[in-house]
Amino acid sequence: MLLKNIHIVDDSQDFTGDISIRDDLIAQVGVHLPAEENTVDFAGQDVTLLPAFTDLHVHFRDPGFTYKEDLLTGSRAALHGGYTAVNLMPNTQPVCSDMAIVHDVEQRLRHIGLVYGNQTLSMTKDLSGTDYRHLKTLTRGEIPFVTDDGKGVNDDAVMEAVFHICKEKDIVIMSHAEDSRYSQVDMRMAENSMTFRDLILCEKCNGRIHFCHVSTVEAIEAIAKARSKGVKVTCEVTPHHLFATGDEVNHYRVNPPFREQCDIDALIKAIQAGVVDAIATDHAPHTAEDKAKGAPGMTGLEIAFSLCYTKLVRNRHITLQKLVQLMATTPSAMMQLNKGKIKAGMQADFAIVNLDDPYIIDPDNFMSKGHNTPFAGREVYGRIAYTVFKGKIHSWE
Ligand code: DOR
Repeated sequence: MLLKNIHIVDDSQDFTGDISIRDDLIAQVGVHLPAEENTVDFAGQDVTLLPAFTDLHVHFRDPGFTYKEDLLTGSRAALHGGYTAVNLMPNTQPVCSDMAIVHDVEQRLRHIGLVYGNQTLSMTKDLSGTDYRHLKTLTRGEIPFVTDDGKGVNDDAVMEAVFHICKEKDIVIMSHAEDSRYSQVDMRMAENSMTFRDLILCEKCNGRIHFCHVSTVEAIEAIAKARSKGVKVTCEVTPHHLFATGDEVNHYRVNPPFREQCDIDALIKAIQAGVVDAIATDHAPHTAEDKAKGAPGMTGLEIAFSLCYTKLVRNRHITLQKLVQLMATTPSAMMQLNKGKIKAGMQADFAIVNLDDPYIIDPDNFMSKGHNTPFAGREVYGRIAYTVFKGKIHSWE
């Protein structure tokens, strides 16, 4: 297949040209490539082709909470948002504390075949915060990430022991930095104190840590400082924490909470300085009933690119190439996937986007079961027109 006359942008190039695809890989990238029997000509269509996105932080709720989302609706939502790879959180029912569940989820996702999915393992058994014996049975290389996302591990001795095991087994810890002893008192203190503690333990144990959804000026500055000292730390920020302050969304419930303008400014500065590795959605679908009862989080996959493009690129905080790096190139590399760049030999995974026409966010158009978002009715740019996974085109026009 040949994709012809299309504006192509990745982290290191920006030009109008052609891409030929053989099987599920990019065969050639260039200008005036020879015609093929199956050619899609984009001349005159106002669209831009990017590497499809990779999301390090997603809740598909399967097994156990499939009334909120399941692997099929989650896969469709990802694809609709321009994503072809997701890293799934383990706060399912049963909790994903067992490699049998990891294999089952990954196998079912392969069978659905719409996106690639990696299932993470919980850091403590059943998110107990105390029992980490299941980690000892893992062989080196068996699992790339462990996390208790949704909860922090309060016990310092447990966390130190987990760092030692993960170091030995070459596992990256994904930290949901929230000390629940402080959550009722001050959510800023809850995030900051655990971030500081985890950075200290990471350095002491010479481990590897990835901070999920960093949201405060203090946390991102501490991460920047640790990085500059050589601590092996990476981090992600969410589109929603970048897009709005708590005041602007009526303090819509999410963990960590929407913050203040000084926090948004610090996160953007950290993105510009290269301290932030990835933008990840924390896609957290809930029913209206569960939201009314206080469930934290929002669906994120289908509007992530639009929120980021509108806030970061149109306002000239960063270039589109930098956004591609944050949403595709670096997270793909962190998951060791052969995607994230427009380059011969890489998987033919693309998000083809319309950058110029504004649209209004309408959760009724979501493919996710979750319609929970504080951004309904907002005007944004950057609609996904097509998503290509392994050379197969899905059209959203
Ligand atoms: O708001 C959130 N919701 N934050 C999390 O970390 C977990 C997530 C969920 O699972 O609903």
